[in-house]
Amino acid sequence: MKKSHTRTRAKAPAKKTEKVPIAILISGRGSNMRALIEACARPDYPAEIVLVLSNRPDAPGLEVAEAAGLKTLVIDHKPFGKDREAHEREIDAALQASGAMLVVLAGYMRVLTPWLVKAWEDRMLNIHPSLLPAFPGLHTHEAAIKAGVKEHGCTVHLVTSGVDEGPILGQASVPVLENDTPETLAARVLEQEHLLYPDVLEMICRTVG
Ligand code: GAR
Repeated sequence: MKKSHTRTRAKAPAKKTEKVPIAILISGRGSNMRALIEACARPDYPAEIVLVLSNRPDAPGLEVAEAAGLKTLVIDHKPFGKDREAHEREIDAALQASGAMLVVLAGYMRVLTPWLVKAWEDRMLNIHPSLLPAFPGLHTHEAAIKAGVKEHGCTVHLVTSGVDEGPILGQASVPVLENDTPETLAARVLEQEHLLYPDVLEMICRTVG
């Protein structure tokens, strides 16, 4: 069939979403990071991962990030001994050099010093596996079962110097079932984490971007 047009017009470039550069800090498996990588791969998602940083050289999440073609960096906390701030000064230098505007903690299992918290005030997010302010700290699923609550879940919040205390940006809840073990409950919460974190990050990026 004959084409009706002999001249082709240059295609208008696809509308580009302005992407906010973010850095992700991990310590382990990195399943939340993976959810964020998947979200960031969407052309219309307003964030771009410029660095994945781990304090553990053996964090399995590093391989996930590398396989996705992301820049990764390890700043092991061990050589710094008790000098937590010296460790964080290196982390901060790497974050600054990466051009990140936001820092996203995704299973980063170190308590931050007030120094790093101040350096990234209002620009650092964390995900925590409970409906804060209930069950801060570790072993949240065990604690929820022990307390007999009917509802549990996860929270994304801004990081402040009080551990798991910053302003809440979003929460997702799941029922606690009669036969739940910490493992079954953790799995149900984790599914929600993977939905909540990309959603909240999107909302924040659309506000700051
Ligand atoms: C997640 O459940 C996250 O909420 C939790 O660690 C897990 C990391 O899993 N974070 C905290 O407990 C922080 N206080 P992931 O490495 O597969 O994302």
